[in-house]
Amino acid sequence: MKKKRAVFLMHPRDHQDLVERFWWTRFIPASISDPILPRLSGRVGFTVCEKADGYDNLEIYLIAVLLKGHQIVSTSSKELRTVRRRILEVVHFAQHNIKADVIGLGALTASVTNGGQWLVNQDGFFPNITHGDAYATSISVEGIDKVVSLSGLSNPVIAIVGAYGIIGTAVCKILSTKYPLIMMGRNKAKLSRVHESLNGKAMVTTDINKIKEADIVVTATSHPQALMRSEYLKHGAIVYDISQPENVSKALLKERPDVLKIDGSLAKIPGINIKFDMRTGKGATFACLAETILMTLENIKGHFVGEVDLQHMERLKSIGKKYGFSHAEFTQFGDKISREQLSR
Ligand SMILES: NC(=O)c1ccc[n+]([C@@H]2O[C@H](COP(=O)([O-])OP(=O)(O)OC[C@H]3O[C@@H](n4cnc5c(N)ncnc54)[C@H](OP(=O)(O)O)[C@@H]3O)[C@@H](O)[C@H]2O)c1
Repeated sequence: MKKKRAVFLMHPRDHQDLVERFWWTRFIPASISDPILPRLSGRVGFTVCEKADGYDNLEIYLIAVLLKGHQIVSTSSKELRTVRRRILEVVHFAQHNIKADVIGLGALTASVTNGGQWLVNQDGFFPNITHGDAYATSISVEGIDKVVSLSGLSNPVIAIVGAYGIIGTAVCKILSTKYPLIMMGRNKAKLSRVHESLNGKAMVTTDINKIKEADIVVTATSHPQALMRSEYLKHGAIVYDISQPENVSKALLKERPDVLKIDGSLAKIPGINIKFDMRTGKGATFACLAETILMTLENIKGHFVGEVDLQHMERLKSIGKKYGFSHAEFTQFGDKISREQLSR
C-alpha cells in the first residue's frame, strides 16, 4: 500500500544550514557560495535533505531550495520571479516525482509566495498546500500562555512584531482577548486593518522602539536576519521568537544576559524521528512541519494559504492532541530553559 507522503519545503537560513546539508561547503566561504546559489535552477536548485518515516504509513521528505534566507527575501521584482520559479520547481518535483499528498511551506517560502496564494494560483493540479501557520499559531499561543504562567508575570504587556503577517494577525486576534498588546508593523494601514478586527485591547505602532514597554516580545517577521537590538528590549524581557531565520542573535544575549530568548513555535511530535538537524533541539520540530504531517496523516484536503483559518486551527489542535503533539520543552538556541531562568 502506498504510504502517505508529506513534503516540507525549506531553505538554508544561513551558511551553517548549508554546511549541515553539504559538509564540504564549510571550506567554501559564504562570499564564494552566495553568488552561485541564485544561478542554480532545475534539479540542482534544490536538495532532498531527508526522507523520514513516521508510524507505519507516513513518509516525510524535507526538501531545501538552495537559497539562503537573505537571498529568498528579494529586493527587486526580477529577484522575486527567480525565487518563486525556484520554489515552483520543488513543488512540481514534489507533485510528479514524490507524489506528495500534502506540501508544507517552511521558513520564508510562504512569505515570498504571498502566504502560498501565488503557488495555488499557478496552472496545473497541485497536491494540498499549507503554509503551516494555523498549527504554528496554535502552538505559539500554547507556548505564550505557558510562559506567562511560569514566569509569574501578572497581566504582562505583550508586543507582537510582524503584527499584520499571517501568524502575527492570528496571534493578535487570540492574545488580544487575554493580554494588553502592542502591535508593531511597518505599514500603518495594514496595522489598523488588523487592529479593527480585534475583540480585545491593543495599541498599534510603526516604531519598533515602543516594544520596550513589553514584558514579552513575540517575533513573527519575514526579516531574514536578527532584528532585535538591545535598545528595543526592556530589562528582563522574554522574547518568544517564532521567526525563521531567527530574529534574536546569540550576540544580543551576550550583550543582554537579562533577556531570555525562547525558540518559538516548536512542537513535540512523538513517534516521528527527524534526524536532519534543523537546530530545533532533540525531539522537537517546527509547528508548520507538524501541521503538514497532521494534514497528511488525517487526509485533510484543500489548500491552507493566506489568512489563518481559525476553524482549521482548532481542528489541527484537537488532531494534534490525538497524536500526542504539544509545545516542545522551552529552549534557547536549543539549550533547555530552567524554571529559574523563566521566573520573573
Ligand atoms: N517556528 C515555526 O514553526 C514557524 C512556522 C511558520 C512560520 N514561521 C516563521 O514565522 C515568521 C512569520 O511567518 P508568516 O507566515 O506569518 O510570514 P508573513 O505572513 O510573510 O509575515 C511576516 C511579516 O513580517 C513583517 N516584517 C518583515 N520585516 C519586518 C521588519 N523589519 N520589522 C517589522 N516587521 C517586519 C512583514 O511586514 P512587511 O509587509 O512590512 O514586510 C510581514 O507582515 C517567518 O519568519 C516564518 O519563517 C515559523
